[in-house]
Amino acid sequence: IDQPNVITCKAMVAWEAGKDLVMEEVEVSPPQPLEIRVKVICTSLCRTDITAWESQAIFPRIFGHEASGIVESVGEGVTEFVKGDHVLTVFTGECKTCKHCESKKSNMCQVLGLERRGVMHSDQGTRFSVKGKPVYHYCAVSSFSEYTVVHSGCAVKVSPQAPLEKICLLSCGVAAGLGAAWNVADISEGSIVVIFGLGTVGLAVAQGAKLRGASQIIGVDINPEKYEKAKCFGVTDFLNPNEYNEPIQQVIKRISGGGTDYSFECIGNTGMVTTALQSCCDGWGLTVTLGVPKTNPEIASHYSAFLSGKTLKGSLFGGWKPKSDLPSLVNKYMNREIQVDEFITHNLPFEDINKAFTLMREGKCLRCVIHM
Ligand code: APR
Ligand code: ZN
Repeated sequence: IDQPNVITCKAMVAWEAGKDLVMEEVEVSPPQPLEIRVKVICTSLCRTDITAWESQAIFPRIFGHEASGIVESVGEGVTEFVKGDHVLTVFTGECKTCKHCESKKSNMCQVLGLERRGVMHSDQGTRFSVKGKPVYHYCAVSSFSEYTVVHSGCAVKVSPQAPLEKICLLSCGVAAGLGAAWNVADISEGSIVVIFGLGTVGLAVAQGAKLRGASQIIGVDINPEKYEKAKCFGVTDFLNPNEYNEPIQQVIKRISGGGTDYSFECIGNTGMVTTALQSCCDGWGLTVTLGVPKTNPEIASHYSAFLSGKTLKGSLFGGWKPKSDLPSLVNKYMNREIQVDEFITHNLPFEDINKAFTLMREGKCLRCVIHM
């Protein structure tokens, strides 16, 4: 039997909050029981990587969670994957046996859910080291490395025909937006929708709303450069809050005839959650949150919003159960039922990953795909 060995490869390591990543030779342990080691092919930069890199305290660390790759080796007890399988990594796994995995109402796996401490689910250890010093993981994925180890429940096997350099976007942002529109909000035909934040996540919501036949899709963003791209995903009206003297929710109420059916927060700004709630209509107005705030995690709202029948609903990964649902989303892409390529504004080699951070922080990109 082939026993997998330690691999030495290149990884972009974050040593300090907010400081450029540094390319290092890292040692990647063999996969432990129920884990797989993956050769990362492409990883795209998501805003949440930046938020965590700027604001969290766990270092040194390898970020990256939106990725595609090929299985290099499998740990003991893995029956679902073999070497050579094409996979998407996922930051929230599916164990298929916990109460939430068994429920149709949730994708909040209690065993392989969002990992916040920078370690592996199974033993709270890390699989990376630089010169003998452990390096922490991010969301149990850590795709800013040529090889990474993930739990087999945090990877999804996909068709080998699907282009890995495109479908990596379905491992987080684009899937999260589509799922928020379809699974969480369940937008109905003819609806009026407002989306706060026209990055990849917000524009994926727009695409989902358009495919459901929404009649008006209002996009709110402070960066006017987002408008052209937004049109191609179905946004019909563009509002820049900086161009109005009145609160933007008043403008939205006016142009939507009393408030929208749905509003989506895709910025990561809790103040905007309040604005989104104020922008939807009485009775059935539904606000869905997708953003991940860096600061001020508390949400403020006057209870009158709820007395008038509005609903505030959270979401993670668009309500998708990754293993059960992602392969069909990849097939939808292959059948040209959903757009993914259009979100890719830049392709960069691995060593230029810091450029991707700069582009995103300056609001100059949707998704940068990093080719390993
Ligand atoms: N008002 C309106 N728009 C804003 C504001 C604001 N105060 N602040 C930022 N924006 C816009 C930006 O101009 C940008 O177009 O929000 C958009 C955010 O998009 P990206 O930075 O590209 O982020 P994205 O990857 O789409 O993620 C959005 O979802 O998954 C979470 O952590 C992620 O919180 C983030 C959110
Ligand atoms: Zn589970």
